[in-house]
Amino acid sequence: MMTEGKSPSVTGVPIHIRDVSKVFGEDSEKPFRALRPINVDIPAGQFISVVGASGCGKSTLMLMIAGLLERSTGDIKIGTKSVTKPVTEVGIAFQDHLLLEFRTAFDNVMLHADIRGIDRKELAKRARDLFAQLRLEHAMDKYPRQLSGGMRQRVSLIRTLVHEPSLILMDEPFGALDALTRLQVRMDLESLWLRRRPTVVFITHSVEEAVGLSDRILVMSPSPGEVVDDIEVHLPRPRPIVLGDAPEFAGYVDRIHRHFERLGVLHGAPLPHTNVA
Ligand SMILES: Nc1ncnc2c1ncn2[C@@H]1O[C@H](COP(=O)(O)OP(=O)(O)OP(=O)(O)O)[C@@H](O)[C@H]1O
Ligand SMILES: [Mg+2]
Repeated sequence: MMTEGKSPSVTGVPIHIRDVSKVFGEDSEKPFRALRPINVDIPAGQFISVVGASGCGKSTLMLMIAGLLERSTGDIKIGTKSVTKPVTEVGIAFQDHLLLEFRTAFDNVMLHADIRGIDRKELAKRARDLFAQLRLEHAMDKYPRQLSGGMRQRVSLIRTLVHEPSLILMDEPFGALDALTRLQVRMDLESLWLRRRPTVVFITHSVEEAVGLSDRILVMSPSPGEVVDDIEVHLPRPRPIVLGDAPEFAGYVDRIHRHFERLGVLHGAPLPHTNVA
């Protein structure tokens, strides 16, 4: 099972989240509790997803891991270091992928060379490899407006991974994609992740996608969010395109949906009208 133990190819860092909570506007008249205390230990190289209702605090948690938002209580350690400022050894991907319109796809990926002072030659080689692996060589010299949404998303994925970060944080990165492209990008992400096994924290609204990609899934309650279930996904990798072929797949999906039903996030169908003429 690939999810257990630390294989030599794992490049990820462990994360320790201890009693981390968030209250917005703590000193104001109307403080707002966005997260109840969260405790999670994420081993190096794990692919962990977070699912939960809109507004339950998923992005808040991610921003605190990235050091982009102050926590109200508790501690977050990446490796052995407490997060006290924006984390640099990280690849971050958001839903709106923010490619720069005036740079080609390749030059968007090469941004890291300019921002992080990474050697251009080395980075260009890695970038070309990734474009090839995602079958996007033809897109390298095009501008974002000349690419489809799915291509832009994959360019953004390359940019997230090209500097080989040991931690990747992804917040609904595939939200804007159609179902077919989303499936393709899921396969691509898994194969890229398997090459180096960075630690990945992945936020998604799609339960199927979470089960398809993850070693482990945190299920959160509605706001103020807390972890109500912590599920290890034991499905072999690489995972098939048609996940339904794995008999255990539906069991994981059902388990999460049942939580959402119990928590009032999902409601059953209303009784049919009986007096319709
Ligand atoms: N800077 C802020 N100031 C005040 N309240 C905030 C701030 N950022 C987020 N919130 C509130 O905290 C709660 C959690 O927000 P968050 O963005 O973490 O939710 P989420 O789980 O990512 O939702 P979604 O799935 O819709 O992206 C929400 O009620 C939101 O309105
Ligand atoms: Mg969010």
